Amino acid sequence: EKGGYPHFMLKEIHEQPKALVNTLSPRMVDGIPDFGIKALSDDILKSFKRIYIVACGTAMHAGMVGKAAIEHLVRIPVEVDVASEFRYRNPILSKEDDLVIIISQSGETADTLAALRLAKDQGVHTLAIVNVVGSSIAREANSVLYTWAGPEIAVASTKAYSVQVAMMYLFAIQLAHVKEMISVDQTKILCAELMEIPQLVERVLETADNCQFYASKFQNAHDIFFIGRGLDYALSLEGSLKLKEISYIHSDAHPAGELKHGTISLITEEMPVIAVATQTALMEKMVSNIKEVITRGAKVLLLCKTGQDEMDQLTDYVIELPKCNDFFTPLLAVVPLQLFAYYTAVLRGCDVDKPRNLAKSVTVE
Ligand code: F6R
Repeated sequence: EKGGYPHFMLKEIHEQPKALVNTLSPRMVDGIPDFGIKALSDDILKSFKRIYIVACGTAMHAGMVGKAAIEHLVRIPVEVDVASEFRYRNPILSKEDDLVIIISQSGETADTLAALRLAKDQGVHTLAIVNVVGSSIAREANSVLYTWAGPEIAVASTKAYSVQVAMMYLFAIQLAHVKEMISVDQTKILCAELMEIPQLVERVLETADNCQFYASKFQNAHDIFFIGRGLDYALSLEGSLKLKEISYIHSDAHPAGELKHGTISLITEEMPVIAVATQTALMEKMVSNIKEVITRGAKVLLLCKTGQDEMDQLTDYVIELPKCNDFFTPLLAVVPLQLFAYYTAVLRGCDVDKPRNLAKSVTVE
């Protein structure tokens, strides 16, 4: 049942290219996204002026990539909230202007379901991005987009995250297209680039040995920090959650520019730092943040795109990603972070697929 892999988590990490193809291909018609949802006609899509994305944990991290993608292409404000905060903060919702996107692998998470009901009760259109067919969230939302990751058994979410992120990109492109924020040609180019991603993920999976080697270097750390900016910060949150969830190493993710406002006091030679730096526009700023922590003794593991000489020279520990449009790199960069967490947990003798205190589906509040 584990298909020859020692753990479900490793199997599911390797299933990502297939999960991405299964999720994206059926929604592509003549090189343009088409969701085929009656309740979400182009006219209705066009009318949204603000979007809330509500989810928990890893699904919320996928929502953070979605926010960046939608704001970049569509230029409307997007708020991302954890469901357990959203539902108790009396959110300001407008049934004329707002869309609430609910993201959930299981479709049964209690707080996420409650957030969906709250939005629906106020007459706001709810769109659910769900992996489990016929789950409560899928049944109750006004519209549903299924991710086709297949069953995810390991408690730590991997392939479900990737397909949620892919769906967010597809949605952002579709919305930008119907709102005429991008031309038909631009739409087709973005879709073609997105469709190349599964093959590139296949190549990133070849960094597994490298990730295992770095895991062996970092496995005895008490704490690990992740730093990044923009999309790389959203990824850092996911990398940090994955690591602490299964390896029990304390870790935190910080926006790299925030270090100097407090956290940098914790940087010593005892505090390894994982720097995610895939965004060309933010490269220079990241180089100086990485120098700041190296000066204070931190060992740095750097995740960047191939051919970044200035970056490569900063540290001996580097994982390189193939070239692709910066906009889509989260779909590549998450893979080494998942593999690093996986191998660290294995080396520490942890129960990778069933970490302590956690359940696959959180149906209690
Ligand atoms: C972490 C993880 C959790 C879930 C969260 C939401 O690896 O799996 O953070 O993402 O509990 O679950 P769903 O997506 O089922 O609503």
